[in-house]
Amino acid sequence: MTNVLIVYASQYGSTKKMAKTIALGAKEEGAEVTLKMAPETTTEDLIKADGIIFGSPVHMGSMDWQMKKFIDEVCSKLWMENKLNGKVGAVFATGSGFGNAGGGCELTMLSMLNNLVELGLLFIPLPKNTPGYADAGLQWGPYGRSMGPNMEQTGLTDEQLEAARHHGKHVARAAKLIKGQPLFS
Ligand SMILES: Cc1cc2nc3c(=O)[nH]c(=O)nc-3n(C[C@H](O)[C@H](O)[C@H](O)COP(=O)(O)O)c2cc1C
Repeated sequence: MTNVLIVYASQYGSTKKMAKTIALGAKEEGAEVTLKMAPETTTEDLIKADGIIFGSPVHMGSMDWQMKKFIDEVCSKLWMENKLNGKVGAVFATGSGFGNAGGGCELTMLSMLNNLVELGLLFIPLPKNTPGYADAGLQWGPYGRSMGPNMEQTGLTDEQLEAARHHGKHVARAAKLIKGQPLFS
């Protein structure tokens, strides 16, 4: 069976909600899903996975420190040994909509993407015809906004969660296709 690992950080639950919705999409494609917060995630979880998805809230314009700690302390061991090469990878994030722009969301996703590629993973983007893209779309992955332009709590929209569900489906399908294929020499 295809295994999809979703690793995320979340203080107030929005990123967790998005992670759970991505998991739902992956399960719809028949994948076995491991959903873990960054501090609980082990090298064994990463090795077992065929697809790996990193998610983070935007904190001060970039990724949450627990995700970065996990990448530096856990993922780096496997990077040294080239153990994750050829798996499938993807990212997602949540932030506020302060100023109606979502400051820092791209940097958050791009820095996690950079780490995934460093680890030798094949990146799955979010194509612009994905359902929900008009509200959650960034080519890097789904982006959910838990607050409005004036920092009022809004919660994630159905469209943002729909994009997240499809992201999970895409990763599960890609991981299934690529699993066991000799790719890199
Ligand atoms: C310390 C801190 C810093 C934040 N900085 C930003 C930021 O720079 N840009 C942004 O869009 N949202 C920022 N936010 C808002 C969160 O990214 C947003 O509320 C997110 O959905 C929270 O995710 P969570 O519910 O999974 O913890 C910040 C929140 C906290 C707690």
